[in-house]
Amino acid sequence: MEKNDVLLEEFDRSLRPKRLVDYIGQDQIKENLNVFISSALKRSETLDHVLLYGPPGLGKTTLAGIIANEMGGKFHSMTAPSIDRIGDLVAILSNLEAGDILFIDEIHRLPRVVEEVLYSAMEDFVVDIMIGKDATANSIRIDLPPFTLIGATTRCGDLSAPLRDRFGIVHQLNYYQTSELKEIVNRTSRVFDFQIDEQAAWEIARRSRGTPRVANRLFRRVRDFAQFEDEFCQVIAYELTKSSLVKLDIDEEGLNETDHRYLRSLVERFKGGPVGLGALASSISEDVTTLEDVYEPYLLQEGFILRTSRGRVATEKTYRHLGLGYEGRLF
Ligand code: ADE
Repeated sequence: MEKNDVLLEEFDRSLRPKRLVDYIGQDQIKENLNVFISSALKRSETLDHVLLYGPPGLGKTTLAGIIANEMGGKFHSMTAPSIDRIGDLVAILSNLEAGDILFIDEIHRLPRVVEEVLYSAMEDFVVDIMIGKDATANSIRIDLPPFTLIGATTRCGDLSAPLRDRFGIVHQLNYYQTSELKEIVNRTSRVFDFQIDEQAAWEIARRSRGTPRVANRLFRRVRDFAQFEDEFCQVIAYELTKSSLVKLDIDEEGLNETDHRYLRSLVERFKGGPVGLGALASSISEDVTTLEDVYEPYLLQEGFILRTSRGRVATEKTYRHLGLGYEGRLF
């Protein structure tokens, strides 16, 4: 990780709420988690394992940190690609203490052999590891303290059934309402001690693709424009917000430059589809997984595209949004 990334991450962390009551949105999930956490605490037990899934930037890591905080357990955070051998996982597990929370992000990317070690760890708090080879091979059992695994993934469907079934609490995070994102922007403005107009906060919220991470990023960039224009500026104004968003290539619907390249290619090169995702991705030099995990979920939800058995199709909304005529389209 570069120094800048570390700083940005620190920055992001300071924005993250620490308590469930300070977490905005995802009301149903919060209500349920509150019940499960309170009851586990009353019984002096660890919380059952939790799986959080949904598009990136919706607050899965934040929620995991909150769970650890509310349960009073130490928070160990890792991403699955950094656990590529059984030994890595065993080292992590054997360092846990009773009541700790182990958070594994992108859990769908765990290698299968590592995943299989997790099964008994999750179910019985033990791991069996093989020492030696062939005739001299010996299995030894390591007892683990009771802990809670929190897995996060953008792709619930990529999780194997045995792993998925071992999570007692499973929640899908959904895109946020504009009013919720506005609350998040206002909270960020308080954390940074930098004010923002009501209308400006609404404008950022409205154009944040339903995603807190995007809202917080836009807030920071608009604040940059505000301070660049006026070093002593203390309040982000509506007009400045609108002009900054134009400079950032964020359109009226919150779509960015990559969304535009995606939609334009779909409409212009592939005549509105249907087209396979692979062909579309290579036409705009993007990675299939990125398009599928990051861009498409929002375009689908907002009705810009359809996923059919024959491929992606642009909707009338997309033609109108790009300022193109839709009449006479047949597919
Ligand atoms: N920051 C990022 N996501 C948040 C959320 N859901 N609530 C409060 N602050 C946040």
